[in-house]
Amino acid sequence: MPPRKKKSNNAKNEIVEEEGVLEGTMSENSTSVPNVATNNEASTGSIDDLPGIGPATAKKLRESGFGTLESLATVSIGQLVAVGNLGEATSSKIIQAARDSLNFGFVSADEILERRRNMLKITTGSASLDDLFGGGIETGAVTELYGEFRTGKTQLAHQLCVAAQLPRELGGLRVDGPIKVIYIDTEGTFRPERILNMTKRWEGDLDVKQVLKNIMHGRAYNSDHQMVLAEKAAQDSQTEPIGLVIVDSLIAHFRAEYIGRGTLATRQQKLNQHIHTLLKMAEVGNMAVILTNQVHSKPDMFFGDPTLPVGGHIVAHASQTRVYLRKSKGERRIARIADSPLLPENETVFAITGDGIIDVN
Ligand SMILES: Nc1ncnc2c1ncn2[C@@H]1O[C@H](COP(=O)(O)OP(=O)(O)OP(=O)(O)O)[C@@H](O)[C@H]1O
Ligand SMILES: [Mg+2]
Repeated sequence: MPPRKKKSNNAKNEIVEEEGVLEGTMSENSTSVPNVATNNEASTGSIDDLPGIGPATAKKLRESGFGTLESLATVSIGQLVAVGNLGEATSSKIIQAARDSLNFGFVSADEILERRRNMLKITTGSASLDDLFGGGIETGAVTELYGEFRTGKTQLAHQLCVAAQLPRELGGLRVDGPIKVIYIDTEGTFRPERILNMTKRWEGDLDVKQVLKNIMHGRAYNSDHQMVLAEKAAQDSQTEPIGLVIVDSLIAHFRAEYIGRGTLATRQQKLNQHIHTLLKMAEVGNMAVILTNQVHSKPDMFFGDPTLPVGGHIVAHASQTRVYLRKSKGERRIARIADSPLLPENETVFAITGDGIIDVN
């Protein structure tokens, strides 16, 4: 993300400290998003710079997971009231001040283009697959991998856990410090042994032990737990250099728990909330978010492949790039761009081997 211009603080915007909150000395240092796109440097400023925010309110905000200007500028008043434990008027003023300081509002298309030039791409391990993705998996966006069982969704997710930690010149996100990865595992299929196998080809460029240490694995036992883990990831991303978040798989728990037509609305509502957390995390922290998804067959479809991702419109709208994986001969798999705001509907072949994802010779 390019550094945004900061507006000068205006005394008129002063926010009155919440009643009952005693000003005291801050017990912790200021934290800011270690944004992967800006070389892990501090992002755009600190919440302490907001007019009228005293140390007590800043501390309260940090404790509630709003440690950065971006997190405050993108939260809703209702959410800040509920989570931040602040009054409505104060919450509204804080949000407005954060938006002002970040120059939130409309931006011109050339600025968006400039921002997009700062997006990073993570290599998939296969040059042809990277080409299909326009250079690799994009940061600042949600990419959905969907397909039948054994099509390579989990393998590709493992591969990206390793690749994200590579130096930039090799297709990773690392510049100075380490890059961390969060893996939300809903099916219990994460295997550190596979990570070790996939690290082998970059042995000289990666410290194998460190690669494992930088992957934070969370086993989600139900959909609520999954949602909590995603929120925790969003919170951690404000202080940790997280470059990639994986949810493997997105809907399995939701599908198993909300059975029958009567529960569909509740399920979609929860799913919407969960996806919103992930989408916001990707955009605000400029991280790559990977979702894996199952498929269902549409029997009334007469033309084309009737295999469709589950989750309906909610998932469809949240995933900026949707990739359909299917099996081919032996270790070969086919990836197809099913939906993208930028990439053509193309497909390519890659292979899953003991050492990870590679090109087909
Ligand atoms: N060590 C390995 N060496 C070579 N190929 C492997 C290895 N481990 C897994 N594979 C390949 O990966 C396939 C499994 O792929 P993966 O686990 O990514 O499927 P998936 O799309 O996540 O399926 P599901 O929907 O069941 O989760 C295996 O069938 C095998 O072909
Ligand atoms: Mg899987």
